[in-house]
Amino acid sequence: MAGLNYRNAKWLIEASKLTGESPLIISIINHKGGVGKSCITTNLAHALANRGRKILVIDCDPQCNTSSIFTPESVVADQKTLYDVYADNVPVTECIYKTTYDNIDAIRNSPDITHLEIDLYQDAKNSYQILRNNIRKHAVENYDITLIDNNPSLGLFTINSLIASDCAIIPIESGCRYSLDGFVAALEAIGSIAARVNAELRFLKAVINKVDSRTSISRASVDHIQRKFADKVFSTIINTDTKIKEAVAFKMTVLRHSPKSIASNKFRALANEVIGLL
Ligand SMILES: Nc1ncnc2c1ncn2[C@@H]1O[C@H](COP(=O)(O)OP(=O)(O)OP(=O)(O)O)[C@@H](O)[C@H]1O
Ligand SMILES: [Mg+2]
Repeated sequence: MAGLNYRNAKWLIEASKLTGESPLIISIINHKGGVGKSCITTNLAHALANRGRKILVIDCDPQCNTSSIFTPESVVADQKTLYDVYADNVPVTECIYKTTYDNIDAIRNSPDITHLEIDLYQDAKNSYQILRNNIRKHAVENYDITLIDNNPSLGLFTINSLIASDCAIIPIESGCRYSLDGFVAALEAIGSIAARVNAELRFLKAVINKVDSRTSISRASVDHIQRKFADKVFSTIINTDTKIKEAVAFKMTVLRHSPKSIASNKFRALANEVIGLL
């Protein structure tokens, strides 16, 4: 892992404690795909909801992976999505679904949202504020915690998420050098948005995912990240676990699919850590 450019991530080391009061809006971001953003969003949401927190989940990723867990197409075919918020400023209340999970509501996405991106960039200054202007107030007034899942780019939709958020959690895939690069890029985006637009925005912590303790690269990676970033990494690490893949195949959280599994316990531990920080 030598030679990584952390110079511009100095902001991370200097990141101060959260200044805002609960309730909080938390973005899950990384500039790399497949590191576990959706997995952590959905399972952390369920674990936090089980702890009695009222949760809103917003799927800002046009891939709609989180939507498929909380708002399956078959159940919500005709209802509004995040697309309608971006395209027509449809009131947020028309886009919120009660999920089959106690304490979790969700705003789902539509793959069509990608078609809006070019037009939105024409008026980027206003477009960057759409989520904040249309959703933040309602989220803060009605939910204890809002979790926003994001796509692996740091483009318009993720910038919207960060401008609307109080803080960000960054998953890192153990043993994956590219996910560390994505982590640093995500930190830079947070620092830049905090400096220019949303002074309250903070990096909360990184969470190490897909740990396979049988391999030396995974062990070395965990060791490196924990030494380098110390208390800016959650103590809970999430192992590579077949139960997580099974749960996705069944379109549910692992806490629902296999509540007694090690993976479910890990997400409960992660939720406890998050609650402890808020
Ligand atoms: N700890 C884990 N153990 C086993 N499989 C995992 C784990 N975490 C994530 N996965 C699987 O890895 C794949 C990628 O995870 P996920 O979709 O959460 O990543 P992502 O960062 O949201 O990806 P994208 O950037 O494309 O949105 C999925 O198939 C998911 O089920
Ligand atoms: Mg995802």
